[in-house]
Amino acid sequence: MRSSMLYGVFFLLLLIILSSLLMNSEWSCTTSKSKYIFPWISSTYTSIPSEFSQLNMKVILLWTPFFSSTKWSNISLQKLNCPITRCEITKDRNRFNYSNLVIFHWRDTKAHDLPSTHPAFQRWALFNLESPHHTPVANIQALRNNINWTITYRTDSDIFVPYGKFVAKNKSELIAVVNTDQKKSLNNTSISKKRLAVWIVSNCKTPSNRENFVTELKRFIPVNVYGSCNYNRCYPINPVMTCFKSLAQQYIFYLAFENSICKDYATEKLYMALKVGLIPVMFSGANYSSFLPPNSYIDALNFSSPKELANYLLTVSKTEKLVENYQEWTKTFEIEIKYFYWFCDVCEKLHRESIENRHYHTFQKLYRWWFLEAKCKMWVNNILKTV
Ligand SMILES: *[C@@H]1O[C@H](CO)[C@@H](O)[C@H](O)[C@H]1NC(C)=O
Ligand SMILES: *[C@@H]1O[C@H](CO)[C@@H](O)[C@H](O)[C@H]1NC(C)=O
Ligand SMILES: *[C@@H]1O[C@H](CO)[C@@H](O)[C@H](O)[C@H]1NC(C)=O
Ligand SMILES: *[C@@H]1O[C@H](CO)[C@@H](O)[C@H](O)[C@H]1NC(C)=O
Ligand SMILES: *[C@@H]1O[C@H](CO)[C@@H](O)[C@H](O)[C@H]1NC(C)=O
Ligand SMILES: *[C@@H]1O[C@H](CO)[C@@H](O)[C@H](O)[C@H]1NC(C)=O
Ligand SMILES: *[C@@H]1O[C@H](CO)[C@@H](O)[C@H](O)[C@H]1NC(C)=O
Ligand SMILES: *[C@@H]1O[C@H](CO)[C@@H](O)[C@H](O)[C@H]1NC(C)=O
Repeated sequence: MRSSMLYGVFFLLLLIILSSLLMNSEWSCTTSKSKYIFPWISSTYTSIPSEFSQLNMKVILLWTPFFSSTKWSNISLQKLNCPITRCEITKDRNRFNYSNLVIFHWRDTKAHDLPSTHPAFQRWALFNLESPHHTPVANIQALRNNINWTITYRTDSDIFVPYGKFVAKNKSELIAVVNTDQKKSLNNTSISKKRLAVWIVSNCKTPSNRENFVTELKRFIPVNVYGSCNYNRCYPINPVMTCFKSLAQQYIFYLAFENSICKDYATEKLYMALKVGLIPVMFSGANYSSFLPPNSYIDALNFSSPKELANYLLTVSKTEKLVENYQEWTKTFEIEIKYFYWFCDVCEKLHRESIENRHYHTFQKLYRWWFLEAKCKMWVNNILKTV
């Protein structure tokens, strides 16, 4: 009885040692960067066999350029400080059969230039930061039901891409702020010396009709306009951040007006203004109260007319205390603008989600979600008209 138990234990140990040896050989084979032909790449495989699903690297293939530029394949997850960096980002289509995720940028997707197969283990993602007004459906129609993930500014995307974010300052930084004069960190040019509002615009006629709103606004307060709509240029235009910094010394408010009023649509303008200490005045379809600290922005669409907004801006600008209220958040938060930070989330999600956890969007549902649920609107004579 006793000896048979010993035999059993011995056998078990042997099994463990043997299997770990086998595992090791598996690892050394797959982690070396040889052109190992992965056996699950064939139409008969519907999933990655479990021994391969333990592979430590995930491959992300950028099938399209990003607005005609292939620069985005140079993203480094290390440089972005991603918590998980075990993903390889490539634009090399020869890696298609090794890719866990294939990303298509909406505006660069072309019906005649798509992969000919979609292996079942592989995810395809649709990436887009433009509003529905600027995403032609023809580009993606041929992808049909093949989209597994959406990567967009919509908060209900599979991967949500914010243009920037508020990061809580850590304790030692908080102490540093208390020690240095808060006013020194912001620019101390007295508000009485500053001009009221500035707007940078290069898209002159937009689906949101922001241009008419600003025309109305200018009847009541001065708004200095920069950009390529036949107005002044902001020097130096490059880099944009330098331009914003110089504006922050001259102005109190920045009109961060979006070209489209659609669900969740907000761009980097907001974060750039906040970063340099301009008070952003928003005109957009995003629900800012859900992701910005209170008193960090003014919502133009919160007012019944441009005249009402003008009155409010005048009131704030004349009272130092009110302006300071709008800078209170800087004591506890700072702004982080990291383009392509969403690759961190993508890499993490690829590692986290098991292959069984599959989901995909039918074209019909994707269409309804993107175009119809966006509920895009247009400002016409103080009324938001659905378009
Ligand atoms: C991308 O990275 C490669 C190698 O690091 C470099 O040679 C190339 O200039 C980079 N391309 C761009 C567009 O930044
Ligand atoms: C991927 O695998 C399929 C099926 O084995 C093959 O027909 C195709 O040529 C491969 N594609 C690439 C880019 O290697
Ligand atoms: C907190 O902020 C200080 C000053 O910027 C920095 O040196 C430190 O590394 C930060 N600590 C943590 C835990 O992030
Ligand atoms: C504040 O503004 C002054 C004058 O416009 C400028 O010279 C100075 O560099 C600014 N300080 C900071 C911290 O931005
Ligand atoms: C900063 O602003 C305060 C209050 O407006 C003023 O008293 C002080 O002189 C300013 N400091 C500088 C360096 O301009
Ligand atoms: C906006 O966000 C707030 C806070 O998350 C929420 O209470 C409110 O219902 C949202 N409004 C809309 C229109 O979605
Ligand atoms: C909305 O308007 C009121 C004044 O009518 C103002 O107190 C409030 O701060 C505004 N909120 C935003 C987010 O603009
Ligand atoms: C992605 O979607 C395709 C097409 O619907 C499906 O065949 C495939 O199994 C999905 N992939 C994953 C990993 O969910």
